[in-house]
Amino acid sequence: MAAHEPFDFSGRVAWVTGASRGIGAAIASLFAAHGARVVGFDLFASPAMEEVCHRAIALDVSSFAAVEEAVAPLLQSKLVPDVLVNNAGIARDRVLWKMTELEWDQVLDVNLKGAFNLMRHTVAAMRATGRGGSVINVASINGLRGKFGQTNYSASKAGLIGLTKAAAREVGRDGIRVNAVAPGMVMTDMTLNVPLEARQAALAESLLGKLAHADDVANAVLFLASSMAGHITGQVVQVDGGQCL
Ligand SMILES: NC(=O)c1ccc[n+]([C@@H]2O[C@H](COP(=O)([O-])OP(=O)(O)OC[C@H]3O[C@@H](n4cnc5c(N)ncnc54)[C@H](O)[C@@H]3O)[C@@H](O)[C@H]2O)c1
Repeated sequence: MAAHEPFDFSGRVAWVTGASRGIGAAIASLFAAHGARVVGFDLFASPAMEEVCHRAIALDVSSFAAVEEAVAPLLQSKLVPDVLVNNAGIARDRVLWKMTELEWDQVLDVNLKGAFNLMRHTVAAMRATGRGGSVINVASINGLRGKFGQTNYSASKAGLIGLTKAAAREVGRDGIRVNAVAPGMVMTDMTLNVPLEARQAALAESLLGKLAHADDVANAVLFLASSMAGHITGQVVQVDGGQCL
């Protein structure tokens, strides 16, 4: 008898937000390479996202109404997700005593409310399929430990971890697992403008002496979505080379 291939996602549908570039693009292409039909969402669909994804959809995940509108036809056309990856995220760094209301609201709206919006509008359909499924939220080690200059970002990612755990309790009996990954520093567009000293500090913290590549995070997401992680739910998997220990 052929061995069961846990990373074969043929016939399955994976939704990935923030799929145009960076970690989201790596996740989308990894799921596509493993046979999934990927639905990618981003503010703008990049050519890479168009190429990799079965459907590439321009969407602002922070809008409850826009997410509801974008999701409805997908659910009706048999593209109910088996895997939902809430990856879209932004940073607007500033020390607390100078942070503007807009910087606070934007980060919370994309990073935390965005994940809520996607989960809110898809989980009922996922439950109704009876197939179970997997939700993976891309948090951050800075949601676990807090980070200077990132009260908004750290709060959004800590909130995302709370959302992950509470949702895992609500949908576990439907066979839907909800987990988070918490990357350390990954060199993407998001971190291009991080000061050199901060990059060096992250590197010094890394027990492996290197920073993550987007593919390292994508691999952890694929694992959590796979049957190999079939008894894992409500967890936060750090992908940080031991940066936050
Ligand atoms: N890069 C890092 O060091 C790092 C570390 C820990 C966690 N993360 C998290 O990983 C995720 C991906 O980060 P990245 O480094 O690839 O960043 P990135 O800036 O390269 O990519 C983020 C993507 O999200 C999209 N996006 C932003 N706002 C959106 C919105 N309102 N609606 C839809 N899409 C939107 C962007 O257009 C972009 O394509 C984020 O949630 C980030 O917080 C990143």
